[in-house]
Amino acid sequence: MPKLMLALDVLDEFEAIKISEETSEYVDCIKIGYPLVLATDLGIVKRIKDKTGKEVICDFKVADIPSTNEKIAKLTLNYADGIICQGFVGPDSVKAIMDVAKEYNKKDPKNPKKVIMVTEMSHGGATSFMQPIANEIAKMAGDLKVNGIVAPSTRPARLKELKEIANNAFVISPGVGAQGGDLKEVLKVLDENDYVIVGRAIYLNENPKESAKKYKELL
Ligand code: XMP
Repeated sequence: MPKLMLALDVLDEFEAIKISEETSEYVDCIKIGYPLVLATDLGIVKRIKDKTGKEVICDFKVADIPSTNEKIAKLTLNYADGIICQGFVGPDSVKAIMDVAKEYNKKDPKNPKKVIMVTEMSHGGATSFMQPIANEIAKMAGDLKVNGIVAPSTRPARLKELKEIANNAFVISPGVGAQGGDLKEVLKVLDENDYVIVGRAIYLNENPKESAKKYKELL
């Protein structure tokens, strides 16, 4: 059974904390991205971790040169349990982030930081430029031994292929819920090390707790 990751893309701290507390019984991990961090500040990561006790992953899709990636990773992993980066920028940029994670892990081996690399994104436009190179990116993820990859629930056949190519990496997969991904098909591919990401279908629901419960039960 894969785990449930809540994509908490709300724009208000009060709402973010309310939803994360209400749903925490059913959610295994919380993903925070630019919407919430830009609407508040990076400290929101710690505040949500403190309130819920959940693992928090920052979805910053970091895609810069190694030295800039390093700075972003240092700041982010000071609070977050993991960081999402882009793979298309190449191995040196990804390694710069992995090196930062390793430094943190030396200091606190009990709470290892996770580096998660995007392969192919879940939206339609990803088929234009990302899909043609995504298998190579997934292969790089396996070679570099990043902890996880992001692969699309909107295309279960691609999800399966990318997971197989990246072999030892766990998968976090967006696309179920608002983007219309077929959870039944996705569940044929993912295992207990993986995560299904759900955002709007939970936080825009009039009862986020019930929606999170429903997804947890479906998983
Ligand atoms: P919804 O509301 O569609 O939220 O359930 C999905 C969440 O996942 C993010 N997202 C992605 N992140 N690679 C990523 O790293 C992807 O391919 C991808 N597709 C969606 C999106 O920003 C939102 O937080």
